[in-house]
Amino acid sequence: MIITSLSNSKSIAKSLARKLKCKYSGTTISSFPDGDLYLKFNTNLKKKKLVIVQSFQPHSDMSLFDIVFAAETAKSLGAKKVILVAPYLAYMRQDKRFNSGECISSRVMAKMLNNSIDKLITIDPHIHRYKSLKDIFTISAKKLTANPLIAEYIQKKFKNEVIIGPDWESYQWAESIAKHVHVQATVLKKTRFSSRHVEVKMIKPVPIKGKNVIIVDDIISTGHTVAEAAKKARKMGAKSVSAIGVHGLFVENGMEKLKKAGVNKIITTNCIEHKTNKIDVTPLLFNELKREKK
Ligand code: R5P
Repeated sequence: MIITSLSNSKSIAKSLARKLKCKYSGTTISSFPDGDLYLKFNTNLKKKKLVIVQSFQPHSDMSLFDIVFAAETAKSLGAKKVILVAPYLAYMRQDKRFNSGECISSRVMAKMLNNSIDKLITIDPHIHRYKSLKDIFTISAKKLTANPLIAEYIQKKFKNEVIIGPDWESYQWAESIAKHVHVQATVLKKTRFSSRHVEVKMIKPVPIKGKNVIIVDDIISTGHTVAEAAKKARKMGAKSVSAIGVHGLFVENGMEKLKKAGVNKIITTNCIEHKTNKIDVTPLLFNELKREKK
């Protein structure tokens, strides 16, 4: 088994290779002057299982393109199986046509992967209207969750805490983590007026005054959702407000927005490499890939 990374996720790929005692071989990726993608494997892939580690951030579109080109190339070079480890899988939020004429991006992304890879391993994909990954993937698709790792982190680092899911879509994460930690959780109702303007109300009241509030979301993208929840928690007298995201994208000055809204600590897993990474998901991926190594 050979492990490689493409434009993203180099450090997680290298650490997996070390732990699994597999060869890590970097792939050369660059652009021709006109922008066309150039890709080259630097090891012999004949009859080998190839694990491509690539989160879909930064640049979700190019990340997907890299994967399709890499997988097709690996197969044409004789690889016997191509496994994609995508700690963050993008495009999952567009899971229906919200407005007529829209592309259901998750289906198109899945179709591209179905056609090019043999297996997908991902962490906490945004499954909301789908029941499971099987709704869109015909290949073997394994969903792992960082919830127990996040719960363990909270148990070590926090006291007198309450967990808030900033909207119904994220409540599945907040609720499960709160159960692991044995603390109360509540959910806020988010009304999205546009991709950048959201407002929140608390639906299930729990005491917030004097508590260390932890807002848990699967994705922190622009930071609007968590920022609105943080402002609400501050208004309700929270002692401190922290934000934990499985996938920290922090686009459009997301970090600054959170700090302005009164978030003291911002914590993420290393599904997407970022300076806020405090929770290492490598053990989850290691356990899953161990089976593939046999
Ligand atoms: C969607 O509901 C997700 O669970 C996140 O709440 C959302 O993606 C966060 O986006 P943003 O940070 O841009 O508000």
